[in-house]
Amino acid sequence: MKKPIVVVGSINLDLVATAERIPNVGETVSGKQFNTFFGGKGANQAVAIGRLGCAVRMLGKVGNDAFGKQLRDALESDGVDVGAVEVAQGASGVALISISDHGENSIIVVPGANGTFEKGDVDRHRHLIEEAGIVLTQLEIPMEVVEHLAEITDAAHVPLMLDPAPVQPLSRELLHRLDWITPNESEARMLLGPGANLEGESGTLNAVQKLLGLGVRNVVLKLGKRGALVAQASGLRAWIPAFKVDALDTTAAGDAFNGGFAVGLMSGKTPEESGRFAAAAAAISVTRRGAQPSMPSFEEVEEFLRHHQSAAEA
Ligand code: ATP
Ligand code: RIB
Repeated sequence: MKKPIVVVGSINLDLVATAERIPNVGETVSGKQFNTFFGGKGANQAVAIGRLGCAVRMLGKVGNDAFGKQLRDALESDGVDVGAVEVAQGASGVALISISDHGENSIIVVPGANGTFEKGDVDRHRHLIEEAGIVLTQLEIPMEVVEHLAEITDAAHVPLMLDPAPVQPLSRELLHRLDWITPNESEARMLLGPGANLEGESGTLNAVQKLLGLGVRNVVLKLGKRGALVAQASGLRAWIPAFKVDALDTTAAGDAFNGGFAVGLMSGKTPEESGRFAAAAAAISVTRRGAQPSMPSFEEVEEFLRHHQSAAEA
């Protein structure tokens, strides 16, 4: 039997307003719609994996407010094992999200219960991590917890995939313990420092080379509708074009991609094949509103791949 995927990360309620455009600093614009969705980068990636049919366990925290139980139940109904999702005193995590008519977003995350995650919470469920096929994490839980998790995965020889969002400086030790890092364009710029150039093919290739130079073994650089570049220290450079779709809401495209990529790797696909599978999952997700509601099933991704060419092939 395949080993389960474990996600250690955030669980949020997303408060989403749509407007013609995202307001500038100090500006007020009239909105069109308001909705609440289940979100959080960790929970989104877990739901993406669950819908794609892989066994998935989540370590995370919800608050003891009205939303906590709903957030946990929603994960469970998507096939996520929530035995290690605990209830903290206080509010659940919340994200305030603005979405423009072009599907672009801006997000403020208030961690709430996610911010109470401690190293001891990981230690209590250490056996789950040690039994995992791969562990996925992000930066919506405290950095010291992510660093501790990396020590555990490293010692147990379990691959760790970090989505460095919201981006923060990463220690050399953490970078050396990662199997995969999956920044988007702005996160890569921040990790590489002032003057980082991701323009065009040569700039992007240069950027992944520098990311590998930070000590991480494998990189997926996510470039929105430009697609993604998968790079391995062993030499692979694989461009994964995005699929041409009408984007309605790009929130959690990166989470759909990471979930799909992990499922691909766990199913024995190559990194390049996993990237194409992930790009299809992400493309479907941007055509739907909301974070978790937008995640496709395995059958939907297979059907999509049968009928769509990526932008580069079209
Ligand atoms: P988010 O923070 O919105 O969850 P992200 O910034 O981490 O996402 P992106 O680079 O925006 O990640 O998107 C991840 C992947 O999703 C891309 O590599 C691409 O395959 C797919 N994708 C994103 N936007 C689009 C789009 N408009 N059309 C088709 N595919 C898209
Ligand atoms: O990646 C998208 C997620 O970021 C949203 O669901 C929101 O909760 C924020 O965490």
